[in-house]
Amino acid sequence: MTSHYRSESEQFEKVPVRIFEDADGASRELATEIAALIRAKAACGERAVLGLATGSTPVRLYRLLRQMHAEGLSFANVVTFNLDEYHGIAPSHPESYRRFMGEQLFDHIDIPPENIHIPDGTLERSLVFAHCAQYEKAIEAAGGIDLQILGIGRTGHIGFNEPGSAAESRTRLVTLDSLTRRDAARDFLGESNVPRHALTMGVGTILAARRVVLLAWGGAKAGVVASAVEGPQTAALPASHLQSHANCAFYLDPTASSALTRFSYPWRVGRVDWTPQLRRKAVIHLAGSLQKPVLRLVDEDYGAHHLADLLTAQGPAYNLNIKIFNELQHTLTGWPGGKPNADDSNRPERAEPAQKRCLVLTPEPPDAFNAMGGVLHRLTSQGHEVRLAVLCSGNLGVPDPILKLHLDFAAEMGGASAAEAIAGLDELQRKGEFDLDTLRIRRLKSLVRRGETRAAALACGIDERRISNCELPFYEKGRYRQFQPGEEDVETLARLLADFAPHQIYATGGALDPSSVGAVCFSLLREALSRLTGSAWIDDCRIWLYPPAESAWPLHEVDMAVPLSPSEVGVKLDAIYRHASQRSQNPAPSAPGTEVWQTAQNTNRSTAHDYDALGLAEYEAIETFKRWIPA
Ligand code: F6R
Repeated sequence: MTSHYRSESEQFEKVPVRIFEDADGASRELATEIAALIRAKAACGERAVLGLATGSTPVRLYRLLRQMHAEGLSFANVVTFNLDEYHGIAPSHPESYRRFMGEQLFDHIDIPPENIHIPDGTLERSLVFAHCAQYEKAIEAAGGIDLQILGIGRTGHIGFNEPGSAAESRTRLVTLDSLTRRDAARDFLGESNVPRHALTMGVGTILAARRVVLLAWGGAKAGVVASAVEGPQTAALPASHLQSHANCAFYLDPTASSALTRFSYPWRVGRVDWTPQLRRKAVIHLAGSLQKPVLRLVDEDYGAHHLADLLTAQGPAYNLNIKIFNELQHTLTGWPGGKPNADDSNRPERAEPAQKRCLVLTPEPPDAFNAMGGVLHRLTSQGHEVRLAVLCSGNLGVPDPILKLHLDFAAEMGGASAAEAIAGLDELQRKGEFDLDTLRIRRLKSLVRRGETRAAALACGIDERRISNCELPFYEKGRYRQFQPGEEDVETLARLLADFAPHQIYATGGALDPSSVGAVCFSLLREALSRLTGSAWIDDCRIWLYPPAESAWPLHEVDMAVPLSPSEVGVKLDAIYRHASQRSQNPAPSAPGTEVWQTAQNTNRSTAHDYDALGLAEYEAIETFKRWIPA
């Protein structure tokens, strides 16, 4: 296997990796490369052949290419081949890749329509094989792909080459992995609506491109990116086949690169500067891999696992173990709002003021309940003034049949609102299969989610008067992947913060895919806070970050860990369950444990198990938080 590393810290990396400040920076670099390719080809009267991807990842790239076109870049000499398309959905379906490409790029540039190639997902099965063979021929006839753009799925797929795809595979019909279908469930308003099959270029087709650039953003991709870059080349992880390509690079943002060895275990690839967090990480990792409690680690354990250096600086093991054990112990608290009248020198949150104003920001209605339903309940029962700010209505996530259920009820009840319900039912009925929701339907769907949020908040002891429905305009005016946050959003958030002047803010979204609702909300929070710098309350405000759905913070990053009793877990699950529109419409009996409340329970239990395994007390479940101090 060839190694491409350029420095000691990259020694495990088998593909060149470039890490950019953010997704915008990486997309700009690639857009510039594409523009240069198109111009160079045009200058010698040739065509530039691009392989294109869809999904959230390349949205920024396409925005930049549209801009470049507006500023004079012509696509008249460009030929494109898209990687894939779902099988069995019409081109007008909102999730069809043909429609996506039109909206994101082709409708805005001067590419000749006959130069655009996208696998045809509407063909019946018997015609698919010939179509795929023809697709390969068309690529060949165009002279092969000059530059192939890729994203990566959490299964390690490139295109829709799911685990099991061979390096030689060519364009064909494939079955989608269940994780891929789950990841697409939000866009299709339910997993049962996600097609089971797709047409995709093969791994071999991709590898035949003269240059390949894979883009990835957000912490959810970090694990699979690291495996593709550093792990063995295997059909079990199709993106790892890229290791054999002579001119391939991964362009990453910092969160997507965070699981590479040079960041996750830097002591394995050279000398490190032992910051307190890194020290904690190394000890926790050592204890975990040896399955020993922290206090039972011995000097030899450190020496045998690349950590002799740490011992020299901060050992012996006995002292270091105690230091880390105490640090972990001090993250644990049953008082997330601070323990009144107690010495708080070793507690995550300060004691004063005893009653705090706690602002809990939830990007979409269930986010805060999923990650911190137990803490919501704790904060209210410990007498703090909790305000739950629902930043986005979540109306995009309500399936039509759920709305219909509510409207049928309202229409039958009669009275003043029946006319509105009947109008809504009428619009629902007239809505074409793939039409976007009308304003009225979106508004009614928002009401469904408001009702669910009220019910969930009540389960956690939060009265409905303590809920602010912010309905940030970027969401109300937008669609998934195409949000355009602006001044109005920042102002709404800044006003909310200034009016409430909280002692604590709970927030999330920093490490997500930048086009997700959570990440957009987090960047708005960052901007709103920067505008409020200097306000008296800010100096006395702590910001706690809760983890995104389905995850917990890694233990070395946890600043506050709140154990939940078995009955509090029950309260939390009840609150999550009350978001009825978000339950699977068609739960898969073959995949138990995948409903949101089940995942939340598993996550919190597994954190409790991890604390226990490190030698700390054994709790039922634990919710985790990181402290954030904005730069
Ligand atoms: C899309 C494609 C897929 C995506 C991957 C990541 O044409 O081929 O491999 O690149 O599923 O999707 P996003 O970018 O939505 O995270």
